[in-house]
Amino acid sequence: MTTTTHGERGKVTVPDLGRMKALEQRITMITAYDATFARLVDLAGVDMILVGDSVGMVVQGTANTIPVELDEMAYHVRLVSRSQPKAMIVGDLPFGSYQVSPQQAVESSIRLMKEGAECVKLEGGMVMADTIQAITRVDIPVVGHIGLTPQSYHRMGGHKVQGKKSGFEAGGRERLLEDAHAVEQAGAFAVVIEGIPRDLAKEITQKLSIPTIGIGAGPDCDGQVLVLHDVLGLSELSLKFTKQYADLRNAAIQATEAFVSEVREGIWPDDAHSFH
Ligand code: KIV
Repeated sequence: MTTTTHGERGKVTVPDLGRMKALEQRITMITAYDATFARLVDLAGVDMILVGDSVGMVVQGTANTIPVELDEMAYHVRLVSRSQPKAMIVGDLPFGSYQVSPQQAVESSIRLMKEGAECVKLEGGMVMADTIQAITRVDIPVVGHIGLTPQSYHRMGGHKVQGKKSGFEAGGRERLLEDAHAVEQAGAFAVVIEGIPRDLAKEITQKLSIPTIGIGAGPDCDGQVLVLHDVLGLSELSLKFTKQYADLRNAAIQATEAFVSEVREGIWPDDAHSFH
């Protein structure tokens, strides 16, 4: 990433992220789904903004990410890209937009890139190798996502930590190592590793040449990602692997309560905020 003579940071690029791993500089990624919050997290200096399909759970009120549609992701990528962040915009491919065939995946990726994504993210390891290859062949950079892959909700029986048991079946420890290698071999430039034991995340991070970005995967990854609503304390749930850095939920409730009470008591609006 370049810095101008005025000390402003330049646009974060794919090669920058590879360099950050080599220099052991930790990568930061956070989700955002609209221009307002994308601007705020960019001002905070985050490296990557993930327009995640977590939008389903934190904005749309769904129980998991499965119902999220490509049209909806395209819309949110468009909103985020209008903020023109220095951070790299990652467009998340939602369930059903890439699993049918590599061709479908390329078409869906092109759709998100046209809306302003600068790379795409998709879930799955070995089984997605051909798909990742097809997308990278048309020069669309890909971020992989392995471990607890939320779109596998029904196979996993919920949002369950993966890689605790040994084995080559989906979610097994050895299989996750194979998944990580497959994603790298297929051409992904980074991989999100979610919900796996710390020691396995460390092993994957040491074995891969591409950056690993962890969530619920311990501190030994090359970077970390969190969902914005968890960071800001907007979510009702508090999960073990997230951290709440602010309490905007209570701040929002209190501000609205104050508005409601001032209107009811005839305090707001006052003369100073009225036109004459
Ligand atoms: O959609 C999302 O927010 C994600 C993160 C949990 C990595 O995929």
